[in-house]
Amino acid sequence: MKFFIDTANLDQIAEAQALGVLDGVTTNPSLMAKEGIVGRDNILKHYVDICNIVEGGDVSAEVIATDFDSMVKEGEELAELHEQIIVKIPMIKDGVKAMKYFSDKGIKTNCTLVFSPGQALLAAKAGAAYVSPFIGRLDDISTDGLNLIAEIRQIYDNYGFETEILAASVRHTMHVIDCAKLGADVMTGPLSAITGLLSHPLTDIGLAKFLADYKKGN
Ligand code: E4P
Repeated sequence: MKFFIDTANLDQIAEAQALGVLDGVTTNPSLMAKEGIVGRDNILKHYVDICNIVEGGDVSAEVIATDFDSMVKEGEELAELHEQIIVKIPMIKDGVKAMKYFSDKGIKTNCTLVFSPGQALLAAKAGAAYVSPFIGRLDDISTDGLNLIAEIRQIYDNYGFETEILAASVRHTMHVIDCAKLGADVMTGPLSAITGLLSHPLTDIGLAKFLADYKKGN
C-alpha cells in the first residue's frame, strides 16, 4: 500500500518524507488556500517545491478549469512543471473527456471527488491512473465510506482495471488500517493518520522496561 500525505504544508511533507515511508502527496485548492498559497505563479512554484521534497513520489496538482479545452490547457501546463506531477481532475463530464485525452497522451491523472462505484468505473474506463473516493466525506453524511472502497475493489478486480484506488479524505489511523484490509492501493490523509500507526501503549511500556532492566545491569 502506498502512503500519500494530503497537505500543502511543506514542513509536514518533509516530516513524512524523513520517516522514509512516503510515496507521494495530494493537494487540492482548499489545502493550498489553507497554507496561504494564492496566485497562479505562487501555486505553480509550490507544486515544484513539493516535488523537490518527495523524491520520486507522485504529486497531485488539481485543475481549476471545468470545461474540456481549459482543463487540457491547464493540465498540460501542470504536467510540464515536473515529471512527478499527476494532473488531478474532478469527476464531471468534461473531466472524463480530459482524463481520456491525457491517458492517450501518456499523462497520468488522478480522478478526484469520487463518491460512487459508477463514477469510479467511468474514471477507470477513461484511463485515470488513480481514482480518489473520498471516504471521510461519505462518513460525514452518515454513509459508509469504506464500503465504497470495497465496491470499487470488486469492480476493478472483476475486469483487471489498472487504475489505482487512492482512498482519499482519510481522517484517522483506523481508516488507514481498514483501507489496507480492503485492498486500497494507496491512501492519502493527514500526517497524524500516518504517525498514529506508530502508537501502542504496550510498545511504550515494553520499551521502558527493557531500558530500565538494561540500566540495572550497567
Ligand atoms: C484528496 O485528494 C483530497 O485532497 C482530500 O483527501 C480531501 O479530504 P478532506 O475530505 O479531509 O478535505
